[in-house]
Amino acid sequence: MDLSSHTQSGLSLSFHSTNSSPPSPTPPKTMIADDSISLQIDSSYCHSPNPMPSKPLQLLEERTEKLHSGNNDERVDKDDEQEEVEFSILGHPMCLKRQRDCQSLPFTKRFAVEPGLESRRAGVRAWGNQSLPLADPEIFDIMEKEKQRQFKGIELIASENFVCRAVMEALGSHLTNKYSEGYPGARYYTGNQYIDQIENLCFERALKAFDLDSDNWGVNVQPYSCTSANFAVYTGLLLPGDRIMGLDSPSGGHLSHGYHTPGGKKVSAASIFFESFPYKVNPQTGYIDYEKLEEKAMDYRPKILICGGSSYPREWDYGRFRQIADKCGAVLMCDMAHISGLIAAKELASPFDYCDIVTSTTHKSLRGPRGGIIFFRRGKKPRKQGIPLNHGDGCSNYDFEERINFAVHPSLQGGPHNNHIAALAIALKQVATPEYKAYMQQVKKNAQALASALLRRKCRLVTGGTDNHLLLWDLSTLGLRGILAFIFSLCKHT
Ligand SMILES: Cc1ncc(COP(=O)(O)O)c(C=O)c1O
Repeated sequence: MDLSSHTQSGLSLSFHSTNSSPPSPTPPKTMIADDSISLQIDSSYCHSPNPMPSKPLQLLEERTEKLHSGNNDERVDKDDEQEEVEFSILGHPMCLKRQRDCQSLPFTKRFAVEPGLESRRAGVRAWGNQSLPLADPEIFDIMEKEKQRQFKGIELIASENFVCRAVMEALGSHLTNKYSEGYPGARYYTGNQYIDQIENLCFERALKAFDLDSDNWGVNVQPYSCTSANFAVYTGLLLPGDRIMGLDSPSGGHLSHGYHTPGGKKVSAASIFFESFPYKVNPQTGYIDYEKLEEKAMDYRPKILICGGSSYPREWDYGRFRQIADKCGAVLMCDMAHISGLIAAKELASPFDYCDIVTSTTHKSLRGPRGGIIFFRRGKKPRKQGIPLNHGDGCSNYDFEERINFAVHPSLQGGPHNNHIAALAIALKQVATPEYKAYMQQVKKNAQALASALLRRKCRLVTGGTDNHLLLWDLSTLGLRGILAFIFSLCKHT
């Protein structure tokens, strides 16, 4: 707040001292007042060995009594109507006076009303309460068209989903108004008692959704996206230039696991700030080539080995990844973005049995709001022949929690999106229900039905089918003519 511009702000806090008042056993109090709260300074500080200089400071609206000065009787009546709270600032006793009944004073007597203020207030109030179609018909109209597009088309994009009404209500709520940099119990701003409750509930539900126990797993629900979640893991655990290894993007991995083009252009921040080297699928079978992966990992010695991807239709062999990570001394991370809903519903194997860190988007099969989440191991590391497993750093406890939380905030992000966190908590509650399990089972059945239909039409599917919710249809053998012919034949049937 710019204190120098108080004359324009219309707000003032008067701060006066009574250097001239005579000493008395109970030091008189100096009055600093607006109309409903008055602040008094105990003048005894003036007689202290280090008297503070008197500083005029104006923050609150001036009392109109000052304008009508000279009526001492009225001042005495006012004092009777006030409640006193005593406290001290920098060791100076102070007294805060609050009007018991502000309504009893006529408004015009208490405020010097600025011309035009009421009409400005009315304008702001009206604008604040306008519905979207009124406030911005242009955006509303485009949003309506997008709604129709979503409802009328058939969406077969494996990364997308439709959230429920409750999630949308939380996303479009007043929670967006609150700033809360930090974590529950340790925020930069005041007024976060309810935001803390929401974030704590979100932690609890995230652990419950994946059957995790809080002694062994912690979670961060603040990442704005899974790309930021992954980058936070690298930032927390690595130094710039350290090595990571994930599935190659053309093999079905994700850019946020590091990618450069065949020409050497570094595409994602993961490969700009860290060194990345990919493993691949076998081009004949479409399955991950675990033999080659092991060979590469032993040569390259990544600090983080990543499993999980964007377009891999088969189960991941997490046990095998664990063996390779232990052999080459890497932390094992799974990015389960696509399949987290299926994992929560126990329709796919769980990476939590083998991995140190698990990240995910929250908006794909998990069916929550758009964002990211990071799970990390905490507590004691498992031991093998007396030696703690995992990146042989000599410590017996995991240190992921502090490093990852610090990387998310303050290193990479500011205030969390509280509307998103509440919406995520709602989605995670649904994930733990039998209805959600049934829904995930149906998603799998639908993917398998589509796979069978395509196979019957002699389409080539990478790996010959699917274990999850997505299919990879190999169009490379068809050529452009073949693809167009197939699309036209489909259009005829629909
Ligand atoms: C495996 C994987 N990780 C990360 C992401 C990126 O997620 P976001 O869009 O939230 O950054 C995706 C998105 O498709 C993904 O498939």
